[in-house]
Amino acid sequence: GCANGAGEASGPKPLDELVVGFSQVGSESGWRTANTKDIQAAFEEAGIELKFSDAQQKQENQIKAIRSYIQQQVDVIAFSPVVETGWDAVLNEAKAAGIPVVLTDRAVDSKDDSLYESFLGSDFVVEGEKAGAWALAEFADATEPVEIIQLEGTTGAAPAIDRAEGFAEVIAENPNLQVVASQTGDFTRAGGKQVTEALLKSNPGVDLIYAHNDDMGLGAIEAIEAAGLVPGVDIKILTIDAVKDGMQALADGKINYIVECSPLLGKQLVEIVEQINAGETPEKRIITEEGEFNQEQAIEALPDRQY
Ligand code: AHR
Repeated sequence: GCANGAGEASGPKPLDELVVGFSQVGSESGWRTANTKDIQAAFEEAGIELKFSDAQQKQENQIKAIRSYIQQQVDVIAFSPVVETGWDAVLNEAKAAGIPVVLTDRAVDSKDDSLYESFLGSDFVVEGEKAGAWALAEFADATEPVEIIQLEGTTGAAPAIDRAEGFAEVIAENPNLQVVASQTGDFTRAGGKQVTEALLKSNPGVDLIYAHNDDMGLGAIEAIEAAGLVPGVDIKILTIDAVKDGMQALADGKINYIVECSPLLGKQLVEIVEQINAGETPEKRIITEEGEFNQEQAIEALPDRQY
């Protein structure tokens, strides 16, 4: 027979009976806000119920949210892990309960890749490499050391680890390029401002600020202006994301270059959920397509930028 008992595999469900639990990192940045909106809109459009919780950048809150989704027997759990490590226990609980998990945006560092169905998001190492390639070209003619301050994302987060790694690998090609200070600004504007304020004092000769996201770069702009310097001229700024505020600063010449990281993951996440519901196997790794922007390209893209 095909009794529809709880937990029993029972074939595809009508979309309006599906329930997905999503655990978001927080609302630390413009990117994150755009990501949340895009995911909520995509599920609404698909007619699939989305339970949403904001972890306020705390892993313990995410673990609690995931446990509660397991208890509620949702059909699929999706989440963007705030840090890379420490997920095996809760993911094993989801597996034991027969609830498939999809990683969106950020990866977990686990040896067991049977703990999730699919990982949808950017290649953060490549983003760091693109940023490094721009810095190499920008300072190719430098005859003296180029002092770089790095504003790192949240400590232990995949994009912070990978963007530092990709950048370091590429700039190693020119020993003149030196990261003289590197500190976390937690992906927030306030964090970027505070760290830059302090680091400008200890590194008055800084040439370039490499921020792991636009928001920290925007915070750095405030600190640079408060110090009586001109952002984009006295100190160059290189960031990742390409949200509207970042693109505006690039168009205004206050940021010099942006590597894109797309927050628009909603439609692809819905597709993965639909595939799982249909009994199909989604691609294990789906990499987001993204570009890069200089000032001219930012001016051109701005009028149509949705986020
Ligand atoms: O995981 C993606 C990163 O998280 C974005 O680059 C950053 O803005 C966000 O906070």
